[in-house]
Amino acid sequence: IPNKINSICCIGAGYVGGPTMSVIAQKCPHIKVTVVDINEERINAWNDENLDNLPIYEPGLNQVVAEARGRNLFFSTEIEQGIKDAQMIFISVNTPTKTYGTGKGMAADLKFVELCARQIAQAANEDKIVVEKSTLPVRTAESIKRILEAEDSEHEFAILSNPEFLAEGTAIEDLHYADRMLIGGESDENGQNAIEALVDVYANWIPREKLITTSVWSSELSKLTANAFLAQRVSSINSISALCERTGADVEEVAHAIGMDSRIGSKFLKSSVGFGGSCFQKDILNLVYLCRHFGLPEVAEYWEQVVKMNDYQKHRFAKQIIDTLFNTVSGKKISFLGWAFKKDTNDTRESSAIYVAYELLQDRAEVHVYDPKVSSDQIYKDISYLQEHSSSSPYCKEKLPKDWKELLHIHKESDLCLKNSHAIAVLTEWDEFKNINWDSVYANMYKPAFIFDGRNILDREKIAKIGFEIKSIGKG
Ligand code: UDX
Ligand code: UDX
Ligand code: ADP
Repeated sequence: IPNKINSICCIGAGYVGGPTMSVIAQKCPHIKVTVVDINEERINAWNDENLDNLPIYEPGLNQVVAEARGRNLFFSTEIEQGIKDAQMIFISVNTPTKTYGTGKGMAADLKFVELCARQIAQAANEDKIVVEKSTLPVRTAESIKRILEAEDSEHEFAILSNPEFLAEGTAIEDLHYADRMLIGGESDENGQNAIEALVDVYANWIPREKLITTSVWSSELSKLTANAFLAQRVSSINSISALCERTGADVEEVAHAIGMDSRIGSKFLKSSVGFGGSCFQKDILNLVYLCRHFGLPEVAEYWEQVVKMNDYQKHRFAKQIIDTLFNTVSGKKISFLGWAFKKDTNDTRESSAIYVAYELLQDRAEVHVYDPKVSSDQIYKDISYLQEHSSSSPYCKEKLPKDWKELLHIHKESDLCLKNSHAIAVLTEWDEFKNINWDSVYANMYKPAFIFDGRNILDREKIAKIGFEIKSIGKG
């Protein structure tokens, strides 16, 4: 097993693999880092001379890529060659929730990971360290190892689990100043040597005391648990937001008051239209599936409630819009500010906006959308996906009318999106929404002019003074 690493290959050039490898290359000029992907269009975008065309938007990423690309950072579709040339291989491919068969809607689909393991086994020409970087359910490392050993008995493989904790929108900062880096490996000599090799890579910029090493299973389970806890905090404060709206309390005041208890802490207590992103829901559903599999139905139900509360929060927001607009939105123009699942990313996976729009489209609203970074193609794709695959949300089961595409309009400027609308809904907390000229928006709207602030970013007093009727999350 190699112990001094000078070449790394990462399979998967997505939201995790791309930024993580860019930062490793930036911080370790002595290591050649090659990121490979089957998606040629994506690789071409990573190689685009114009850094604004990188396939993902992430603050600070451009500079990192500019510094390392061509020096020791390479993007390629030559997967086999990439594997051959590297001592250490990261698997960073997508692990979506299964949409078919056993575990449908719950378990992670590991077909991409399994395929990677087979590709590695076929291409390997020497002993390798294989690092699982995708979010995977517990015991995946073991499956990878079994496939590698069964397909290739000539070489030795050490499998590490190295979960990623970066959040989108702050990926580069999270990678530069990680709270911790977790590396799980086996207790035998090979395993320990492999752990050391990866620790040495990260020690180039992360303080040693932040590099935690555990068993493979603890590491895999820590990733699921961290995301389940974070999501649980959001669902917990969102559940309280519903009660605040009924009782006249203010959820921000409550969050502030409880957050000052050092045992609770102030982060991740922002009430919203619901959490999104590729990880939270998927990881919790995984956890739930694992608990059921291991005969722990009470534990499974406990965590499942976090997802149910999130579905309810999105539904509550959509329903409030319909109820407030005199019980019908049919033919009314509802303008969405934001589509991404949070600010500073162009990622829309599991974004609340998709579900809210879906419910409004079910009621035949004219949904108009403005998002500074999300493409119009992506927005249509997101709704189509929900329409074609049965959704986990009980509120989005009904199919849309056939002509739904005519009801959905995407804008490149916020002015046109907001003009002549019956209601405005803030779905993403993009900073630029704070600078909108609300006086002129008001002048060009149907009255009463409604605003539904799903992110609590607007100044309620100022907005109300102009004449709007504003509804915010968790404010009675
Ligand atoms: C609690 C609140 O902490 C306090 O702020 C409030 O005013 C009253 O209720 P108390 O019940 O006195 O205080 O003790 P606390 O330290 O919170 O412990 C409560 C229970 O939780 C104990 O049985 C304790 O053993 C248990 N606990 C606490 C755990 O099992 N694990 C933990 O990590 C913390
Ligand atoms: C998350 C974890 O934070 C990260 O550690 C892990 O590696 C991947 O999953 P990410 O999904 O990129 O990261 O973003 P995050 O900042 O966690 O936000 C997730 C969702 O929760 C977003 O939709 C966000 O708007 C929402 N959220 C977050 C809230 O509604 N309120 C909050 O207080 C925090
Ligand atoms: P994540 O958020 O986990 O990074 P993404 O979907 O953004 O997920 O990225 C995963 C990438 O992995 C995609 O670009 C996909 O094309 C790539 N991928 C999936 N399977 C393979 C494979 N067998 N070989 C190479 N690349 C793969």
